[in-house]
Amino acid sequence: MLLAQLTDLHLRPPGMPADRVVETNMLAERAFRAVRRLTPAPDAVVLSGDLVDTGSPAEYDVLVTLLRRYLRCPVFAIPGNHDRRENFRAALADLPGVTEDAEFVQYAVEEYPVRLVMLDTVVPGAPHGELCARRHEWLERTLAAETEKPTIVVMHHPPFDSGIGHMDAMKLRDAEAFVAVMERHRQVQRILCGHVHRAVTARVAHAIASIAPSMAHQVALDLAPSAPSALVMEPAAFQLHHVTPAREIVSHTAYVEEYPGPFPFLTPAVTAA
Ligand SMILES: [Fe+2]
Ligand SMILES: [Fe+2]
Repeated sequence: MLLAQLTDLHLRPPGMPADRVVETNMLAERAFRAVRRLTPAPDAVVLSGDLVDTGSPAEYDVLVTLLRRYLRCPVFAIPGNHDRRENFRAALADLPGVTEDAEFVQYAVEEYPVRLVMLDTVVPGAPHGELCARRHEWLERTLAAETEKPTIVVMHHPPFDSGIGHMDAMKLRDAEAFVAVMERHRQVQRILCGHVHRAVTARVAHAIASIAPSMAHQVALDLAPSAPSALVMEPAAFQLHHVTPAREIVSHTAYVEEYPGPFPFLTPAVTAA
């Protein structure tokens, strides 16, 4: 099974850049084209939040058009802090799970060799993430319902520090409570996040947690404690999570841009002196 993770598209109304300089709609279209070209094709796509930039219906219209035009496989989406939950739910109601819960965008996906648990960490109007008591209870109950199948938790806000201070200030709050839930559920192998616009990997409880790079702009890699918030136009990328027949999960970062190659390796023959 091949799962493509696309994150932080930050789509804008047609003709408008994000953050004054980022042509996110063009970048997203290029990224969807790259996903469409993949051979083998992914079995499913997860969208891990910040699908649009301000949460307006016009931005979701752009997303729906792109999804219809380029993706043929099932799409599983959750919101990020730039999304507006009510507009997200209205625009994406046809996607599986999006309206399953009456209040949040949270659901489990059962039909693959690994189970996906899609988690809504959004606090309306705030950049940080948080799980309220009801979402904590839902997560605990949902994980307890299937303890054997390898499980991937998908959430926008990382429950760990990246070392990029201005982003860590808006990570998942009360991450200790989330980690305590993970510790009770050894079937969770991976935690897939967005939000930080960079490829980052860490351990959370026993699981491997990762942040996928953005399909648009990246956050500057500055690990100085008081680093200013800044974006850079480093290569847009997405991740491919390959579930092996043994149900191990192996992850690759794939770039949207096409580069020269591939060229065959031609090793010169070694001749005896
Ligand atoms: Fe983002
Ligand atoms: Fe975000």
